[in-house]
Parts: sequence; structure tokens; C-alpha cells
Amino acid sequence: MVSLDKIRFYELTLQERSEYLRKQTELTEGEMDALTGLTGLTAASADKMVENAIGVYGLPIGIAQHFVVNGRKVWVPMVIEEPSVIAGASFMARLARAGGGFTASADKPCMIGQMQILDTKDPAKARQILIDHGSELLAEAAKIDPVLAELGGGPRELDVRLIEDSPIGPFLVLHIIIDVRDAMGANAVNTACERLAPRVEELTGGRVHLKILSNLADRRLARARCTIPVSELAFEEYSGEQVRDGIIEAWAFAAADPYRAATHNKGIMNGVDAVVMATGNDWRAVEAGAHAYAARSGKYTSLSTWARNTDGDLVGTLEMPMAVGIVGGATRVHPGAKAALKLLACKTAGELAEVIVSVGLAQNMAALRALATEGIQRGHMTLHARQVAAAAGAEGGMIDAVADRLVQEKNVRIDRAEAILKEMKR
Ligand code: MEV
Repeated sequence: MVSLDKIRFYELTLQERSEYLRKQTELTEGEMDALTGLTGLTAASADKMVENAIGVYGLPIGIAQHFVVNGRKVWVPMVIEEPSVIAGASFMARLARAGGGFTASADKPCMIGQMQILDTKDPAKARQILIDHGSELLAEAAKIDPVLAELGGGPRELDVRLIEDSPIGPFLVLHIIIDVRDAMGANAVNTACERLAPRVEELTGGRVHLKILSNLADRRLARARCTIPVSELAFEEYSGEQVRDGIIEAWAFAAADPYRAATHNKGIMNGVDAVVMATGNDWRAVEAGAHAYAARSGKYTSLSTWARNTDGDLVGTLEMPMAVGIVGGATRVHPGAKAALKLLACKTAGELAEVIVSVGLAQNMAALRALATEGIQRGHMTLHARQVAAAAGAEGGMIDAVADRLVQEKNVRIDRAEAILKEMKR
């Protein structure tokens, strides 16, 4: 076993990494097995999760290193098929650590439920009636989930909007804001909307059509911030100032142009989704919220910002909706997700949201740093070459040998990998 001092996690074998992680954390052997996929979600459990199940589908899980969020060291499990993401996040977390790590915060875990109210005779009057009966409706909603109320959550606010212009004419939208505590909250919110609908119909004389949560969870934002000392940014022939300014210029492109912003935000979501998936959360919900929030001004733009501070250091921020839970749904059913949550040791859904946005910010910086300097292909090349070598039929030690040749030749193509493999086998 490799000495545990000054360990380079990425240089360990698969087994050594598991052993190391187990020694460093409170995960039991069983939990480690679930996390690494040795055991984990069974086909029988899958059969209870989705319809027509035929089995389970695997993806790589890795651990991002060096994350310090609000002064706490965090092991970050990431589920992702794309090379360079985990390495990029780890590397940037190391640079951020030199500036004190990530400072993150999360709003109260409030989700929005929507009710679409059609066929009112006078929508403006119906709106006023709902506003006047706000306390009554909130009190009725509070009775629906006593467990949530005991935990300190429950309905908080109502908001009624008149949509004046739509393809079917004007209608009302009632928002109910519910503090869902440590859950993602879809069930609590959808139940409340369905249960309140008859009373809303009675009060307005209208028809409540859709009753569903909004994924634009802008009452549940999470933010991360990091400061990278400019000296930490220097590498090879690039000075720290050059890298810093290159990152700021790259960000400005995304801030100004939706075509670039989509790709820029995709880079953020590489980090975000990987942790959302590892913890069994609904990444489509988080994706939907992220992009809707990025377009909140009417123009789609960057979710992050990058600037220099008065000391000349690089400062990054990220703010986005983060509807994730640590209880309920797959977070409890999937043994790997349960183990991932234990590894993260977040006591609340808000803490998990804080880690996730920090990873998103780190990932964004990794992409911008590469794009602003050596280009994205170089970092991608080694791992990509290994994937190509494996796809060409290389096994065991052959994978690295073929990959090394592909990288040397700067020609990462499957036909070339097949040719090299054939030559080596001969
Ligand atoms: C690739 O998965 C993500 C990037 O395209 C992000 C970006 O361009 O900022 C590298």
C-alpha cells in the first residue's frame, strides 16, 4: 500500500484509491462497495424505481480532490462519462484553496408550486380574491404535511400573477412558495398544489388546470465565490496576469453572447450535474433551473462572473438555482447515492447546494483557463486517447501503451489506435 502521506490520489490504483478513501472517511466497507459500484443499485431495486425496468446502467464515479467549502474539506463524488472534468475540478479547487477555498451560501430551501387558473369571468377580480384569502389558503396548505411543519418547513407565501397575453388569452397563475427543508421538494409542492386546487376554484369561480412545481427555483439560489491569488495562475510560459486576464476575457465573451454562454454554462453544468447525479438528485430539474435562470433578464447569459480584485487576484462567482435534497427519492433508495451523501457529510440540503455550486465554479474556471491558454484538446487528449485505445480493443497495460502513442503522434483516432494495437500484438 502506498504511504498515506503526501499521496497523489490520481496515481493510485483503483483499489488503492478505495482503501485510501475508506481510511480517510467514515465510510464502512459496505458503503465503499456501494459507492464504487461493487454492490449498489440492483435490478430488483431498479424495478421498483421505474417502469419496464430491465436492469441498471453504469457510469464512472470519481472523487474530486482539494475542495474546501466554507472552511470545510470536502471529498466530492462526481458521476460523469467525460474525461478531464474531475481532474479539472480538482486542479482548480487546489488553486482556490490557496486563496482560502470557496465561500458559499444557499437561500432557504423554498420551492415554487404553480396553479394555472382558467375561465375566471374577471381575472383581475379573481386575483384580488385570492390575495384577500391568502392567509386562509396558506393555513389550509400547512395542514397537508404535518411532518414538514414539524421539521420547520411548510408553506410560506402566495403570489398571484395575471398573464395578460397568451395564445389562449388572459389567465391567472397562483404561486405557492413552500419551504421543503432537506428534500428536493417536488412531492410536497405538487401535493400542496393539487390539494389546494378545489378551494382556489371555489374562490375564483375558475378552473385550476395545471398544478405543478416550477423548475425555475429562483427562491432557492446557491452562490459560490473564490479568489485565486494571481501568482497561482502562472504555468509554463503563461504569467499569472496573462491567465487571469485571459479568463476574464473568456468570461466577457459568455456574458455578451448567448452562443458562447450556452457552452460556458455547459462547462459549469459538467461539475454541477456530476455531483447532482452522484447524490441521486434530479439533474434535469437542476439543468432546467440553471438555463431558465441564465435567461432571466430576457437575454441568455453566463451564470458566473470573473473579475480582478484590487490586489490583482482573480475572483469568480457563481449564482444559480439549486433544487437538491439529502432526503427522499433516489437519495435514499440508491445505495451509491446514500454513500456519496455520507462522504460529502452535508448536514442540510443547503450545505449540499453550497458544495455543488463550488464545484460548478471550479469546473468553469478549469474550462476557461484551458481555453484561454493551451486550448481544450491538450488536457482532454490523454484520457480521450485511453478511451479510444479501449474502444479499439486494447486491454490492461495495452490501453496506456496505445494511448501514449496516440498522444505522442497527436492523432487520437480509432483507426490509428487499431493499427498501433495490431503492430504491438505482432
Ligand atoms: C466541454 O464539456 C465544456 C467546455 O466546452 C466548456 C467551455 O467551453 O467553457 C470546455
